[in-house]
Amino acid sequence: MLESLPLPSPHVSRLTDASDASTDVLIVGISGKPQDSATLTRLNEAGEGWIDRLRKRGAISCKRGKVNKLVPANNDGPPVVLLIGTGDDTRSNRVDAFEIAAIAIRSITNNSLDQVDIALGECFDPSTHDAIVAGALCACENLAIYQSDPSAHVPAAIRFSGISQEAIERGKIIGHAINQTRRLVNEPAGVIYPETFAAQASKVAEASELSIEVWDETKLEAENCRAILAVGAGSARPPRIVILRHQGGGDEAPIAIVGKGVTFDSGGLSIKPSDGMVDMKCDMAGAATVLGVMQAVAQLGVKRNVIGVCGLAENMISGTSYKLGDVIKTRSGKTIEILNTDAEGRVVLADTLDVTRENAPASIVDLATLTGACMVALGMEVAGLMTNDQPLCDAVSQAAKTEGEPVWQLPMFDLYDEKVKSKVADIKNVGEGRWGGAITAAKFLENFVGDTPWVHIDIAGPAFVDSPKPHRDAGATGVMVRTLVNWIESQA
Ligand code: BES
Ligand code: MN
Ligand code: ZN
Repeated sequence: MLESLPLPSPHVSRLTDASDASTDVLIVGISGKPQDSATLTRLNEAGEGWIDRLRKRGAISCKRGKVNKLVPANNDGPPVVLLIGTGDDTRSNRVDAFEIAAIAIRSITNNSLDQVDIALGECFDPSTHDAIVAGALCACENLAIYQSDPSAHVPAAIRFSGISQEAIERGKIIGHAINQTRRLVNEPAGVIYPETFAAQASKVAEASELSIEVWDETKLEAENCRAILAVGAGSARPPRIVILRHQGGGDEAPIAIVGKGVTFDSGGLSIKPSDGMVDMKCDMAGAATVLGVMQAVAQLGVKRNVIGVCGLAENMISGTSYKLGDVIKTRSGKTIEILNTDAEGRVVLADTLDVTRENAPASIVDLATLTGACMVALGMEVAGLMTNDQPLCDAVSQAAKTEGEPVWQLPMFDLYDEKVKSKVADIKNVGEGRWGGAITAAKFLENFVGDTPWVHIDIAGPAFVDSPKPHRDAGATGVMVRTLVNWIESQA
């Protein structure tokens, strides 16, 4: 098996003294406002007003995310100072805290540096400080995980000033969870398939004190999980269901998070054209997000019961593939007619949601790279929300807003129900034509949640992206890890 680069884990700590010459780069925020931060003031004074002089000549930009690389003339401090624009009025904005820290770190990953100090804490309110740390860590992970001579370097150590130890711990946990999710998604399908995903989940569970159950194909048969088995039937790599449990809330009903884990989606017999298949290693992003969130929830010691369920299968083509016209009796007893083998995510989730329900959850949130239609509706950067319970959906939206991950709700009118009715079975796995495809997929899923309050998040757009941004590389984004951690913690 291929060996990718290790997950980035710079040594992260709290800096209490001023940076000295042992620091390679000092990162300092600069806003357009008259009042400078203490570190900036100190730097300016140590250089007899050099920053003021540069500012006067217009040599420094304070625009949000703008990086000014400066080399101080006096040589008793750090040899390089990065002034990064924080923009106006961003003190309490967690998104800015995360992205500005990430932009600063990404701007120096072309050099191999040992010691980086970040003094951004003083530019932001304490409520955002964990996001600074998480953003800095996320900047260290990228998609070039198989380059012999890596183009991006992870600093050996990052120190944060003006940030509490508590915020550092929290930011580390969240940053690492996001990177764990991204790495699993960026790994090729030859490396991550149901069995190896489950093995990775076991490692995470062991390290984070989560309990884990892995259902292999024998168990899935014994449990009548014929839907997930059907999707995996054409593959040499059999399906798995992984159940992770975090026990922090005594005997309360758990919150459940559920992920689509199609480790590769060729489309099956309804085969995708090459262009549509090229990124389909990303089709397990929902499951990877569930694993990342469970890791974070366990490490944060959240005082709630949370269960994470991953439905893992590879959608391939062979003599044993499931076929168009097949009728499958799902674990729940409902029958489904297969009219397109490329609408496999909902088929996997049918059994996965049913297994989840057996744990009597108080609520279910599922994450899935489910439909191209959701990308047509909302674009690449926005996740679609569909629900049977408005207050629950509002709570998830609120968490997403706080963390700056854009989501938009789509309607679930009764009129869509008939679009997934089948002539031969209870329901069919496609809607009517392409119209409302994100919603008809959700309507299909709704059949498997009963009356449990449920939100479906279609992350087909934002989970995996073509181009980099200043604050993150292209490829897997780890979208919704922050939102779900926030939501779970807010469910007190
Ligand atoms: N995994 C895809 C959806 C997808 C597309 C995710 C692009 C990320 C990027 C899903 O399994 C799929 O193929 N959906 C079909 C459904 C259709 C056949 C009803 C689609 O959206 O075209
Ligand atoms: Mn598909
Ligand atoms: Zn798929």
